[in-house]
Amino acid sequence: MSTNPYGDHGNKDASITNPHGKGTMSPIEDTGPAVPAPGGPFLIGDTMTGGYGKGPNILHECTIAVEKGEIAVIVGPNGAGKSTAMKAVFGMLNVREGAVKLNGEDITRLSPQARVHKGMGFVPQTHNIFTSMTVEENLEMGAFIRNDDIKHTMEQVYELFPILRDKRNQAAGELSGGQRQQVAVGRALMTKPTLLMLDEPTAGVSPIVMDELFDRIIEVARTGISILMVEQNARQALEIADKGYVLVQGRNAHTGTGKELLADPEVRASFLGG
Ligand SMILES: Nc1ncnc2c1ncn2[C@@H]1O[C@H](COP(=O)(O)OP(=O)(O)OP(=O)(O)O)[C@@H](O)[C@H]1O
Ligand SMILES: [Mg+2]
Repeated sequence: MSTNPYGDHGNKDASITNPHGKGTMSPIEDTGPAVPAPGGPFLIGDTMTGGYGKGPNILHECTIAVEKGEIAVIVGPNGAGKSTAMKAVFGMLNVREGAVKLNGEDITRLSPQARVHKGMGFVPQTHNIFTSMTVEENLEMGAFIRNDDIKHTMEQVYELFPILRDKRNQAAGELSGGQRQQVAVGRALMTKPTLLMLDEPTAGVSPIVMDELFDRIIEVARTGISILMVEQNARQALEIADKGYVLVQGRNAHTGTGKELLADPEVRASFLGG
């Protein structure tokens, strides 16, 4: 048995684990357990309908929400619109009906850059690092909107992902898949987001590295940062999810706590391999 506080997750792969067992990401503020804000969830993409440019609607009354400091996971078949839903929340899509609200504020019409200023950090599914730049340059680029001293945040990222400190002067493109994903997540953390959005953070990594990345994501959530994540490893992701969304053809097919979805016979049969 491991002493890992997250149960069976985690491994002893020294290239990715934090030897101190936990990072130093400082909590935003100690407000106790996550509770729905009076004005609704911390982040909600509320009954979003929309598509790309002048193209047809891809999302149909799709709703995705996450509470402060919680982990929400979007799963579903390829082409279901998971990435599209993330892009809608981040302002990269024409949301024709519905709204996106962050901390009670309607941000539906804001540009992605303006949303970063409001506290959103986004790690896209592809092209999420600058491969020819060093690890440290990637982190510096992540802090592009900040005028203050970024050293402390960079230190926190290196505490969370110690391997990045070792490789800080290496081109990010030379890193392993799992290490690159750490660069991408670290880069997004450099803006000190209150909401971290991750589109398939474990794509292309081994199950061991996946568990380790999930542990680090849980650690980030415990500092009060909300996590909205798309995952193709549905079962494992729902195990760490406070809230889960199954999307099918741009619509909400099933919604519940991670536990509820894992126990739902229909979800199991259709999306979790029985
Ligand atoms: N830039 C784009 N322009 C037009 N249509 C797009 C664009 N990106 C995605 N689509 C379409 O939107 C639909 C949903 O795609 P999306 O990438 O959101 O699915 P997904 O659930 O993330 O799939 P995957 O599991 O493969 O990542 C697909 O029909 C796709 O062809
Ligand atoms: Mg996708």
